[in-house]
Amino acid sequence: MATVTHPPVTILGAGSIGVSFAILFATNAFDVTVYDPAPDALPRAAADLRARLDQLAACGVLDDDCGAVCASVRFTTDLAAALADAGFVQECAPEDRELKRDLLQRAAALTGADVPLISSSSAIVPSEIAHGMTPDAAERTLVGHPGNPPYLLPVVEVVPSPSTRAEIVSTAVTTYRSAGMRPVLVRREVEGFLFNRLQGALLREAYCLVRDGVATVDDIDEVVRSGLGLRWSVIGPFETADLNTRGGIESHAAKMGPAYERMGAERGQHDPWTPELVAEVTAQRRMLLDLDDWDERVRWRDRRLIEVHARLGADRCPSES
Ligand SMILES: NC(=O)c1ccc[n+]([C@@H]2O[C@H](COP(=O)([O-])OP(=O)(O)OC[C@H]3O[C@@H](n4cnc5c(N)ncnc54)[C@H](O)[C@@H]3O)[C@@H](O)[C@H]2O)c1
Repeated sequence: MATVTHPPVTILGAGSIGVSFAILFATNAFDVTVYDPAPDALPRAAADLRARLDQLAACGVLDDDCGAVCASVRFTTDLAAALADAGFVQECAPEDRELKRDLLQRAAALTGADVPLISSSSAIVPSEIAHGMTPDAAERTLVGHPGNPPYLLPVVEVVPSPSTRAEIVSTAVTTYRSAGMRPVLVRREVEGFLFNRLQGALLREAYCLVRDGVATVDDIDEVVRSGLGLRWSVIGPFETADLNTRGGIESHAAKMGPAYERMGAERGQHDPWTPELVAEVTAQRRMLLDLDDWDERVRWRDRRLIEVHARLGADRCPSES
């Protein structure tokens, strides 16, 4: 079998996301170098790396020796040294567009023409980061937004700008896949991408419900912990709606659409599910699941939920209360 060679990864910024990415890549056999200009950030990051790996080991989910993984991650305050062999750059510096732009422009000058320059930004679109960069830097710049922490949440949003070269996007996707991640390509630049837009929609409503005295903060968290979130650990909101109503999502939209439209209007948001939109969503769902297989898929969902229940009940991490 051919040996897959992973590009050496350089992480710029040794905060919580930088350390988490270091764990993800190092535990998937990548060479990892972490750069941070703040000298006191590095010992803190090394200790954080060790503590997180110890936790994974205590939970029995770390295949490698903890010390060996720690030893495989290099830390430096020297940007040129950090980037000398870089094949993949994951920027994890503070959420500040000028800072990210300046850092990635400097990284471009210190790396080869085919090295992706990827920002972990939570909400800034890559065109804004690349604005004013030299063309050779802009065409290598994109966002790779992880969930926190990326070694436990495999999704990563890959967001190119119109200037990002297609080969750079495909290197990013391939590299993330070889680190065990599940990249989702975001097809248009929108602030917050998918993850934080979806999260934001829920949080906006949650804040309103607390403000209006409908529920406490913990009541809302309980509805998600013990309801929505459990189901969403198995299927997403579209598949949930598709499986909740016999006849699938089209039938769900006919029954529930008007109520959801009223709830939106009450919050000043008028985005009805038009017949055309429902038809588009239905067509995409029917390509994923034929209605003839609907009952079997509902049974599959329930089996997965039973597994989640069994894991939560019987297999708690020993270090957690
Ligand atoms: N924390 C999250 O939940 C989360 C999730 C996904 C993405 N992100 C994004 O990841 C990025 C990093 O977030 P974080 O939570 O790890 O921040 P953090 O504040 O924990 O860490 C930032 C690190 O960057 C370092 N830094 C400062 N200036 C720098 C520079 N010029 N070059 C390199 N490093 C520099 C700091 O010393 C610090 O160690 C942000 O863009 C954030 O939006 C955060």
